[in-house]
Amino acid sequence: MTDGPPLLETRDLVKHFPVNRSLRDVVRGTPPRAVHAVDGVSVSVESGTTLGLIGESGSGKSTLGWLIARLFAPTTGQILFEGQEIGGLRGTALRAWHRNVQMVFQDPIGSLDSRMRVWQVVGEPIFAQEGLRGHALRERVAQILPTVGLPPECLYQYPHEFSGGGRQRISLARALSVNPKLIVLDEPTSALDVAVQAQILNRLVALQRERGNAYLLITHNVAAVRYVAHRVAVMYLGEIVEVGSVRDVLERPVHPYTKALLAAVPVADARRRRTRYRITGEIPTLLQPPPGCRFAARCPFVIGRCRTEAPPLREIAGMPDRKVSCHRAEDVAEIAPELLLAPAESPPATEKAPPSGSAG
Ligand SMILES: Nc1ncnc2c1ncn2[C@@H]1O[C@H](COP(=O)(O)OP(=O)(O)O)[C@@H](O)[C@H]1O
Ligand SMILES: [Mg+2]
Repeated sequence: MTDGPPLLETRDLVKHFPVNRSLRDVVRGTPPRAVHAVDGVSVSVESGTTLGLIGESGSGKSTLGWLIARLFAPTTGQILFEGQEIGGLRGTALRAWHRNVQMVFQDPIGSLDSRMRVWQVVGEPIFAQEGLRGHALRERVAQILPTVGLPPECLYQYPHEFSGGGRQRISLARALSVNPKLIVLDEPTSALDVAVQAQILNRLVALQRERGNAYLLITHNVAAVRYVAHRVAVMYLGEIVEVGSVRDVLERPVHPYTKALLAAVPVADARRRRTRYRITGEIPTLLQPPPGCRFAARCPFVIGRCRTEAPPLREIAGMPDRKVSCHRAEDVAEIAPELLLAPAESPPATEKAPPSGSAG
């Protein structure tokens, strides 16, 4: 780890999506409401490393990714890149900054323009940044394609002629084309079958070794995080509830939500197979988050304080390099998921390949 500022840091980042008011709301004077998609997130990514971001669907992971890639402007809060605030960037300055951070989406067909050929799709960021075009651009793209395992001959093909894995390689080539320092990968392999997932994840790991770029890997695939990431942040209803090194967090989850999320993942080794439990209770709405801990309604360890006082993300004694937002973190830290869970209804399927488990 370096002494300087992290490559990327968010400080109390907030994104609220205003909800359209109906005529009745206006007549009744109901105050405007908003979806609290990201609600005070402070995370950092060190250069050359991968931060995994996990959590159930709807927890705000993609929104956080879009904010970091500066595809959305935050409602409040700061984003620092190499120690510099980027919130104020607009126009050409923002366009130039985009060279640093590129994004890869889950659905390569939806995110790639189907009328454009591979060289145009992959070359677009280079054109935007450097104005390179025509033969020179095609030549540059032809050099990039092999780095993601595509032959240079496919320059003139269209993305829809490729399989899902091939299209995701095209997206990756496009993101890599301007040599970004950070790539936000939003569920990059979720639409792919297990063997292809493994190829793409291997490629990502190899590229990071060669180029030293950082990743924010957004996924509900805990096995992929274990395989690719150095650190992991767990997100629940717009907030980070736990963060630490991948090994520590996955081996010894402290937050009850992290325990539940990991207990839902099939474990390959039968001796380590854990009893599954279901998280009960209603998922609170992001329109009116409850005043206390957002997980309180579903938490087996809930006490009165949890319902009134929001727990801050804080360090835990005896656990360096870990932060957890739970009033009872010290009490529940040692409780393994199997001790508190109801028996599973059926044994989970055994899976072998690293990128196969799924908590979503
Ligand atoms: N553009 C948008 N407009 C309004 N609400 C949105 C928008 N994007 C996401 N949301 C809402 O924000 C919340 C978080 O969504 P998202 O970031 O996609 O979560 P995740 O990626 O973890 O599934 C959801 O309730 C979603 O409906
Ligand atoms: Mg998402």
